[in-house]
Amino acid sequence: MPEHQSSRYRDRPPVDNNIIRMLCGRPTAVAHDLICEHVKLGDRVVDATLGNGYDTIFLAGLVGPTGHVDSFDIQKEAIESAREKLREHNTCSNQVTLHHASHEKIGSLVKTPLQAVMFNLGYLPGGDKQVITRAASTLSALQAALDLLLPGGIVSIVAYIGHPGGMEEGEALRVFCRALEGSAFSVTFHESPSDNPIAPFLITINRD
Ligand SMILES: C[S@@+](CC[C@H](N)C(=O)[O-])C[C@H]1O[C@@H](n2cnc3c(N)ncnc32)[C@H](O)[C@@H]1O
Repeated sequence: MPEHQSSRYRDRPPVDNNIIRMLCGRPTAVAHDLICEHVKLGDRVVDATLGNGYDTIFLAGLVGPTGHVDSFDIQKEAIESAREKLREHNTCSNQVTLHHASHEKIGSLVKTPLQAVMFNLGYLPGGDKQVITRAASTLSALQAALDLLLPGGIVSIVAYIGHPGGMEEGEALRVFCRALEGSAFSVTFHESPSDNPIAPFLITINRD
């Protein structure tokens, strides 16, 4: 690179990688980065929306064989798809528990404190688009997740608002999360820097 160009780049303030990822429309990539910073081998975590299992495989890799992932989905199709993916990735079956149940059951089915909980809302990619996460059950599950969250722990929520019902769920989440500010939790709203009014967004909640 010519000298005059390199000095021009050197003088610029560093660019936040999370902003670049949000610009590229990848709130899930930002969520993964932030989860990585908070989760270590041996931790207990939850994937509240299992889907095809990609987040569960990611979490299982972080917590390792001494940790545990509890994953929830209401669709049998998702449980089967994820089980297949876990097999392909050689994820140890006793490292992950797949619950064919609503995430509202986190409080009754998970008894140990949690280091992280991931929500990736909306519908199952490649599945029935009528089966979506809904505001009431999402908020109830989120409250259950916060009740189990350890100090230093993190909850990530990726919300999609472009499908019917998504906007209402996204708005309900914003209201719920704004009300948490000033409590034992710190909330960050990672808005998309694009002009797209229906771009997905990410909220992270850290327990102080
Ligand atoms: C966007 S997908 C999740 C993607 C997934 N995390 C992955 O890595 O592939 C959303 C999932 O939430 C599930 N879902 C909808 N309502 C739910 C509920 N009440 N409890 C748990 N899962 C639910 C859907 O069946 C769908 O599979």
